[in-house]
Amino acid sequence: MFSEKLLQIMQSNPSIAVLTGAGISAESGIATFRGEDGLWKKFKPEELATVDAFSSNPKLVWEWYMYRRQIVNEVSPNPGHYALVELENKFDNFTIITQNVDGLHQRAGSRNVIELHGNILRNRCLDCNKIHTDIEVHPDQGLPLCECGGYIRPDVVWFGEMLPPEAIDDAVHAADRADLFFSIGTSAVVHPAASLPLIAKRNNSYVVEINYEPTVISDIVDESIIGKSGEILPQLISKLTSLS
Ligand code: OAD
Repeated sequence: MFSEKLLQIMQSNPSIAVLTGAGISAESGIATFRGEDGLWKKFKPEELATVDAFSSNPKLVWEWYMYRRQIVNEVSPNPGHYALVELENKFDNFTIITQNVDGLHQRAGSRNVIELHGNILRNRCLDCNKIHTDIEVHPDQGLPLCECGGYIRPDVVWFGEMLPPEAIDDAVHAADRADLFFSIGTSAVVHPAASLPLIAKRNNSYVVEINYEPTVISDIVDESIIGKSGEILPQLISKLTSLS
């Protein structure tokens, strides 16, 4: 399943960057966005995940995020998340760049994680950007307000919004310097995150995709491994262990 080339690179202490998407959390029980059971099949992003949606119906938007927040709080990291923690422990230079807002990489124990799309468990003022960590949100009992008077919102990136500048800068830097780049559980269609495997490839990184089904980058990457990340990543660890 793993090519000789990949195993050879992994035995040379490469600099590694890993882009993850909703697929890595699917085996924890969190729905992905696209595909048969994807969230965007049931919900309209323009009604729930834009500043305009929040401005016109903040209660509805908060209810949706509280529903998703509850799911995140109820689930646990899966073997795919834990395998990435093991890889971080094995390699000197290892960065996870995630599009996920569920914080499961950090809960599993990953340390060097760049969150490109924010974190669903955090809140931020729409007006002054102050982060609010210690508020309880109950949309039925009124919407949370910041001391400045602005509405407090979930600290996630919505459609049409810029990514946090430091996060995207750090992600591009990690992709630029990676000898080995993994794209895991992402349909690779949402930019700028989807550009990262291409940036890595342009800089002669060896790019490996691990995904449940082929994606738009499957023909561009050096190696495309089809399957569940929660199964393939632990197998990769076993293989590396057997070689050392
Ligand atoms: P998608 O839902 O677009 O893609 C998830 C990918 O994971 C699909 O290609 C699935 O085939 C694959 N997949 C599902 N289960 C898997 C498993 N067990 N193992 C491996 N792969 C699996 O999710 P993202 O690519 O993360 O943005 O979506 C990118 C962004 O679009 C999200 O961050 C979100 C969304 O709109 C914002 O909300 C800003």
